[in-house]
Amino acid sequence: MTETFAEPAATTFDGRDGRLDRFGRALRDLRISVTDRCNFRCPYCMPKEVFGRDYAFLPRDEILRFEEIRRLAAIFVSLGVRKLRVTGGEPLVRHDLPELVAMLAPLRTSDDEPVDIALTTNGSALRRLARPLAEAGLRRITVSLDSLDDETFRRMNGVNFPVERVLDGIAAAREAGLAPVKINVVLRRGLNESSILSLAAWARDEGHILRFIEYMDVGTTNGWRLDDVVPAAEVVATIDAAWPTEPIEAGYRGEVARRWRYRDGRGEIGGIASVTQPFCGDCTRSRLSAEGQLYTCLFSASGHDLRGPLRGGASDAELRALIEGIWFARADRYSELRAAATERLPKIEMFALGG
Ligand code: GTP
Ligand code: 5AD
Ligand code: SF4
Ligand code: SF4
Repeated sequence: MTETFAEPAATTFDGRDGRLDRFGRALRDLRISVTDRCNFRCPYCMPKEVFGRDYAFLPRDEILRFEEIRRLAAIFVSLGVRKLRVTGGEPLVRHDLPELVAMLAPLRTSDDEPVDIALTTNGSALRRLARPLAEAGLRRITVSLDSLDDETFRRMNGVNFPVERVLDGIAAAREAGLAPVKINVVLRRGLNESSILSLAAWARDEGHILRFIEYMDVGTTNGWRLDDVVPAAEVVATIDAAWPTEPIEAGYRGEVARRWRYRDGRGEIGGIASVTQPFCGDCTRSRLSAEGQLYTCLFSASGHDLRGPLRGGASDAELRALIEGIWFARADRYSELRAAATERLPKIEMFALGG
């Protein structure tokens, strides 16, 4: 397919300045993967048959050091990024992570507001780390939790990890002031859709924001099939029948979750419908992998190397120009094209980008 691109319009994306990509989208988010390792083996992300004992994860010297991450993050922020989300693999397996958060927390946006610093985790180490992270300047947290049923949960994390420990980690996050906690649920047809109502009831009681993610064809190992996807609209209809809901506005332009609130005032839910209702048109996200590759789409086949120039002595101005040029050339919209010819292209693995 050939496409021609007009120069980006001179207007701004969201009323703020910043370089727009080929489809007029601003650079607003940087997702920073701090490790490609994880202590779980969720079958939809790192199936244990593939990621076994012999799997070669990145050696330590290939992973960006905290100071390198901070330097790149500061450059991204100078280009208009407003949110830094720390991800993995599982970010909490990286040693001394609160130290990195403390290094990122003082960053301020180009209009002098504090940068929004968030973290996505599987929750397994939060009892120990929630408080140090909050004290280091973390503002909010998202925990992945696919079921409250211990048997289902153990099966879905692939390492027989008990659900109680994640629930305790979530409680620790709340105690540390990281509330409201967001809970991400990936649904797979026939595996955990029976957990929808119990998760909703629990989140309403606990005051957490529950978000259902459609199972995606990320990476190359999870054997994705469209039949396994539970559409977000179906989930909302199921919950609505138990506790009536109404749609609410996005919190900001480019938010991936569509939101509904309970009519009885007891909280909200979200649906991340990247399969049935793609949101590429407003996609403001960039992703930095643990070894310093910049990806402009979750489904990219390859990244742009930033570590080479960084370690090769590039100045801040040179790195800034490099990143700006990559964003300027960006034309990704994988989810929108999914149904078309791109399906068989090679892709980066999800655990290498942290979602
Ligand atoms: P907030 O709105 O700040 O809470 O964050 P978020 O929803 O962007 O972050 P989170 O890590 O919780 O994202 C939820 C999940 O949505 C991710 O783990 C992915 O599975 C999916 N997702 C996030 N961004 C994208 C995206 O750009 N494209 C696609 N296809 N899926 C995404
Ligand atoms: N489809 C949808 N979401 C996924 N995640 C991991 N793999 C997939 C997939 N194939 C989610 C995790 C976590 C976030 C980092 O990405 O559950 O919430
Ligand atoms: Fe680990 Fe998260 Fe992937 Fe599960 S989804 S294997 S917790 S990185
Ligand atoms: Fe953004 Fe790519 Fe996801 Fe579309 S598929 S929303 S361009 S990351």
